[in-house]
Amino acid sequence: MRKLIVGNWKMNGSLAMNTELLGGVRSGLSGISCDLAVCVPFPYLAQCQSLLEETAVVLGAQDVSSHAVGAYTGQVSTRMLLDFGCRYAIVGHSERREFCGETDEVVADKVQRALAGGLTPILCVGETLEEKEDGRTQEIVGNQINAVLKVLEDREVSGIVVAYEPIWAIGTGKTPTPEMAEEVHAMIRNLLVSRNAEAGSRVRILYGGSMKPSNAAGFLEMPDIDGGLIGGAALKAQDFLAIAKLASI
Ligand code: 13P
Repeated sequence: MRKLIVGNWKMNGSLAMNTELLGGVRSGLSGISCDLAVCVPFPYLAQCQSLLEETAVVLGAQDVSSHAVGAYTGQVSTRMLLDFGCRYAIVGHSERREFCGETDEVVADKVQRALAGGLTPILCVGETLEEKEDGRTQEIVGNQINAVLKVLEDREVSGIVVAYEPIWAIGTGKTPTPEMAEEVHAMIRNLLVSRNAEAGSRVRILYGGSMKPSNAAGFLEMPDIDGGLIGGAALKAQDFLAIAKLASI
């Protein structure tokens, strides 16, 4: 499966910084044969769309409303994202689950809406440190995946991307071993395949959490790790490109 590397800029960026960062990314794309995307803050979608013109780097957002249109102050719809050329929307990132109170049900609604609206949702799942230490990783991640599978039609399963991001690995410099991550990815793959064998085998399952050039290769060679969702390292063009190169082999 062709690998997918996605940068999640989170709440970082400025007009000047974006110009420099995407300029750097643009100039280093030769020899990269994986799929590449950046998920940028809403206000910069127009700017980044134009900075990425005529490149193969795809644009995405970091969230999307579960509603189609109407009186939802502060929310952003699938149609608006499509207006700016977005193909992806991250849904259910742990930072939104934690700071914006997004439940499994809200996340499932957003995934459904993103698909209905023509976007590819990048569904984020992952356990806290406490849950990991209690040996509950598979249960927690399994519940997060099942909450979404419950609302999808069989044919919709192939339209999602999943990102396994252990919360204790995000921004901490700590990571599971590639083998530990692969165990969770394989469990996610099983859930997807048991729902729809053909579609489930085609879903890309990304690893996220302190992925950087020095550790990416180990993750990317695992059978069920189909790419990465990159936070901090996506803010440096050289690091982002280095990970993309490793995913291009
Ligand atoms: P870091 O790569 O900074 O750990 O962030 C991972 C992440 O949360 C991507 O969505």
